Amino acid sequence: MSSPEQPSMEQTISLTFLTLGSSTVGKSSLITRYAKNIFRESSYSTVGIDYQTKTFSMFDRTIVLKIYDTAGQERFRGLARAYYKNADGILLMYNIADRGSYNDVENWRKEIKENASKKAILLLIGNKCDLEEKRKTSKEEAEKLAKEYEMDYFETSAKTGYNVNEAIEHLVETVLKKKELITSIIKKKKEEKEEAIRIEEMNQKKKKNNCC
Ligand code: GTP
Ligand code: MG
Repeated sequence: MSSPEQPSMEQTISLTFLTLGSSTVGKSSLITRYAKNIFRESSYSTVGIDYQTKTFSMFDRTIVLKIYDTAGQERFRGLARAYYKNADGILLMYNIADRGSYNDVENWRKEIKENASKKAILLLIGNKCDLEEKRKTSKEEAEKLAKEYEMDYFETSAKTGYNVNEAIEHLVETVLKKKELITSIIKKKKEEKEEAIRIEEMNQKKKKNNCC
């Protein structure tokens, strides 16, 4: 039996997320804000791949979330692709003050379609929303794009912390809901199959009894 401090395995759900988006949109900053509540004005571009983890409670379960942080720079793309397949959720990011990074979203989506699991859930994030005076993409425009690609959309600021937990935990919630749904569909199908076998066995018995 597990102690109250140590949740049982059934109560623990491990999820894997991935950050994607062009260089300097704030991928590392967002997940560092989320995992450690820290922000650095000057940070280094990610080399290769990095990750952060966070453990928290949701729906009476302990969630162990591992977020792989990819590098936006072109030369690391190949390496990042190896991490797409296992991602339950993908944080697809751009910078609201950098139009180029918004234009890149379409290419990132193609990358995801080609390399990620069909089951992965995407969330579009417009980061650096503290830079409102430098905004180059309206919220409405981004919402429209997100809708078209069947993603939810959040604006965040890794700098102030605005909406950071909300965005990531929204994606956790969406992934969990989808997993639960899949689990219940599998359970229902299994029950239907078992019921069909029971009926078939009953009919066979009836036939046997009638013939003698
Ligand atoms: P790569 O690792 O090269 O792909 O970049 P990245 O997307 O991880 O960006 P990173 O987190 O390194 O941030 C780039 C720069 O933007 C840093 O100087 C951060 O301090 C800054 N930055 C990140 N998030 C925000 C934000 O929400 N607001 C503002 N004003 N600056 C931010
Ligand atoms: Mg980075």
